[in-house]
Amino acid sequence: MTQRLSACLRQAISERVLEPGSRLPASRDLARELQVARNTVSNAYEQLRIEGYVQARVGSGTFVADAAPEQLLHAPRLSGRQRALASEPYPQPLVRLADRAQRVLAQASAAPQQWGAFMPGVPDVSEFPREVYARILNRLWRHAPPQMLTYGTQAHVTALQKALAAHLRVARSVQCQPEQILITEGVHQAIDLAARVLVNPGEHVWMEEPGYWGIANVLRMSEGIAIHGMKVDGEGMVLEPQAPVPSLICTTPSHQYPLGSVMSLARRKALLAYARKVGAWIVEDDYDSEFRFSGSPVPSMQGLELNAPVIYVGTFSKTLFPGLRVGYMVLPQGLVEPMQRMHAEMYREGHQITHQALAELMEGGHYAAHIRRMRVLYARRREHLLQLVQRYLGDEFMPGHDSQAGLHLVLPLPAHVDDQLLTKRLSEAGVLARPLSQYYVGPDARKGLLLGYASVSEAQMQLAFFTLVQVLRKQLAPTA
Ligand SMILES: Cc1ncc(COP(=O)(O)O)c(C=O)c1O
Repeated sequence: MTQRLSACLRQAISERVLEPGSRLPASRDLARELQVARNTVSNAYEQLRIEGYVQARVGSGTFVADAAPEQLLHAPRLSGRQRALASEPYPQPLVRLADRAQRVLAQASAAPQQWGAFMPGVPDVSEFPREVYARILNRLWRHAPPQMLTYGTQAHVTALQKALAAHLRVARSVQCQPEQILITEGVHQAIDLAARVLVNPGEHVWMEEPGYWGIANVLRMSEGIAIHGMKVDGEGMVLEPQAPVPSLICTTPSHQYPLGSVMSLARRKALLAYARKVGAWIVEDDYDSEFRFSGSPVPSMQGLELNAPVIYVGTFSKTLFPGLRVGYMVLPQGLVEPMQRMHAEMYREGHQITHQALAELMEGGHYAAHIRRMRVLYARRREHLLQLVQRYLGDEFMPGHDSQAGLHLVLPLPAHVDDQLLTKRLSEAGVLARPLSQYYVGPDARKGLLLGYASVSEAQMQLAFFTLVQVLRKQLAPTA
């Protein structure tokens, strides 16, 4: 009764049926009229007083407050001039971004839209075995001990480290013990950690040119790092003798990103020898090598030599789904302890339940089965897209260094085409793609289009491709 009465009075006050300043009936009178206990009315008045709807004046009764709380909750509508006057003593705080953030924002490349034909780098997340994963997660959540909900620690080797070590040894010829594996929130975080821990201001980091813009932006956020773009050809990164001596060498030897070549054995050996000579670390980014569609798998560089100066990094972003944000580093023995401790200091560790669920997905054989299934699907989609390119655009648009692997193709474009403008026009027409020129840190950018095929069904591909051809022809036309 108390609640019903206070709700009625509150509404009456809000709707101005009871005017500000007006006196409420004495509790005894209202109780008599409503035939309820006097306490019911007193309690309702007290509740409204606490909420600020009424004021009690000793000896004279209870009055409707001058300003109802709703009016206080809604900011008054002010004219521009009134707003300027009211905010004069409280100006907006000045936003001053650090120089390095301004540099990154000037070349920010993360796309607002991540799903649709032909978004590069995105696997078919709709095929992820949700049921199995949800069952595992559900069980873990119900029974997880407190340690799984605290910050993570490296007190003992986890099931995910063990499962990954076993998988990487077999699938990628990586030589490692489970304790050498550091779980990260993806390749981005792994590179950030490596750059901050291993590179001093003023030192150089080599990147492939073209290479992944995400890594370039992560490196730009490490104070004073000088990025040097290294050319790539059909055998991967080219070792230029005049290049500045690096502390870190970022490379994608199994499947050069984005052009697609495989680093030759001779280049791998030369790069390893060079890194040993100058004391540099090679960061081997093995982001999508599970998806190779012909020939035998290309083994990792990490496993090529004993005690290789290689930090191997991998991710579940392509094999499962990018939103998972889980990746891993395989660290050389000497780096295990400092990197683990720095990781804990910089990012704190967590997601233990996700990690345990992934371990179980792997132990149960679901991970390997999913990769096998996706490999068949992506190979088919890749072939379909290649046929469309060949049929409707012709040989000059066929990918160059492509090595029948990965989740995207690169269509070369003539040098005069503005590929950034082209992707803008495509996006206006509902087709997603990325310009090749965005992947260069230096000025000599080649032009092209990155087209992801992994997440696009064949039927959808056909439609999107016809739109692409129309927009492309318009851009290529002499009047464009
Ligand atoms: C070369 C390369 N490395 C790594 C990644 C993925 O990074 P993450 O694990 O942070 O999702 C990508 C994503 O597109 C990539 O292209």
